[in-house]
Amino acid sequence: MTLDQSLFLRALKKEPQPTPPIWYMRQAGRYLPEYRAVRSKFKNFLDMCKDPDVCCELALQPINRFNLDASILFSDILTIPDAFNLGVEFKEGEGPVFNNPIRNIDAINNLPTFNAQDLSYVYKCVSNIKRALPADLPLIGFCGSPWTLAAYSIEGGSSKDFLFTKNFIGENPQKTQELLSLYTNACFEYLREQVIAGIDAIQIFDSWAGLLNKEDYEIYSLYYINDLVRQLKEDSITANIPVILFARQPQGGIEQLSVCKPDCISLYWDESIDNSIDILKGKIAIQGSLNPQILKEDNSIIYDEVKSMLNKFSNYPGYIFNLGHGLTPDIDPDKVKFLTDTIREL
Ligand code: CP3
Repeated sequence: MTLDQSLFLRALKKEPQPTPPIWYMRQAGRYLPEYRAVRSKFKNFLDMCKDPDVCCELALQPINRFNLDASILFSDILTIPDAFNLGVEFKEGEGPVFNNPIRNIDAINNLPTFNAQDLSYVYKCVSNIKRALPADLPLIGFCGSPWTLAAYSIEGGSSKDFLFTKNFIGENPQKTQELLSLYTNACFEYLREQVIAGIDAIQIFDSWAGLLNKEDYEIYSLYYINDLVRQLKEDSITANIPVILFARQPQGGIEQLSVCKPDCISLYWDESIDNSIDILKGKIAIQGSLNPQILKEDNSIIYDEVKSMLNKFSNYPGYIFNLGHGLTPDIDPDKVKFLTDTIREL
C-alpha cells in the first residue's frame, strides 16, 4: 500500500471506508509504562520534547503496541510560546507554568520576533519519526490554536476559569488581537516547516475554545484559525496537507466552527454526533468522539458504546475513529487494545 492509499488520508478526503482508520489523542503518554520509563529520565518535560531521538521513540510506542492507522508527532502545543521566550515549564502535578507570562501590554510590545528555526528540534523529530515509520503510515503534525496559545500565555499556565485572561482581553482587545496575529503567523511558519520535514496531515488544537461566548469566539479564536487555514491552503508547500480542527466545547457549536473549512472536525466527547453528522455530511470529514472515561468501564460497556458509535457513522463518508479528548494517565493500555480490536472486528 502507498501512503495515499492509507485509510487515514483517504478518510480525510471523505472517501467511504470499509473500516474506520484509528488513532487516539494523547496516544503517547503517561498511561503507557514504556512512556513512563523514558519520562523518568527527564526532570523537565520540555527537555524531553527537545530530544528528537527520544521523541521518535515515544511517537512509535503506541504504533508498535496497537498497530494504529496514524502516528502523531511527539511534542507539545506550548513549544511556540516557549520560542517567544515566555519560559514554559511543566511542574509535577501543576501542568504548564510560564516564568514570563504576558501580564501587560508592554509584554506584548516587547515580544521577540518569532524565528521558526528556534523550533528546529521539532522538525528533526518529524524527520526521525517519518524515517522510522512504515512508508504507508501517515504522520500528523500539530499546533495549538492562536487563541489557546494566547490564553495559556496571558494566564501564565492552566486555570479553571482563566479569569485573568478574560479580564485582560476585556481591557486590551486591540493588543490581544496583535498577540493573536503574531501567534497565527508563527503557527503558519511552524506548520510549514513541519510539512517540509515530512508530516502528512495537520491537527489544530483549540483546547480552550469553550472559554469564549459565540460572539467573542468569532473575534478572538475563529478569525485567526480561519486566517491560519487560509494561509495553509494558499501556500504551495502546505496547500495539499489536510487540516483537522479540534475545538473543546465551542459555545457557537459545530456550525460556527465549520465556517473556517477544515478538511475534518474532531468532535469533543460531549458534542451531539447526530447533529454534527447533519451539519457536516458531504462537506467535512469527522473524527471522534468516544469519551475516554468509558475506557475505565467493563469491556461489555466499551463494546456497546463503540457499536452504537460505529452505527451512527456507518454511512458517513470520511469518518476517523478517535476519542473525544486525550487518553488520561489512569487508563489501562489493555483497554485501548480491546477498543482497537473491537473497532476493527465490528
Ligand atoms: O500522543 C500525543 O498526542 C503526544 C503529543 C502531544 C502532547 N501534548 C504530549 C504531552 C500533543 C498532541 C499534545 C497537545 C496538547 N498539549 C494540548 C492539546 C490537546 C488537549 O489535551 O486539549 C494541550 C492543551 C497541551 C498543553 C499541555 N501539555 C498540558 C496542559 C499538559 C499538562 C497536563 C497533561 O495533560 O499532562 C501537557 C503535558 C504533556 N503533553 C504530556 C504529554 C505526554 C504529559 C507530560 C508528562 O509526562 O509529564
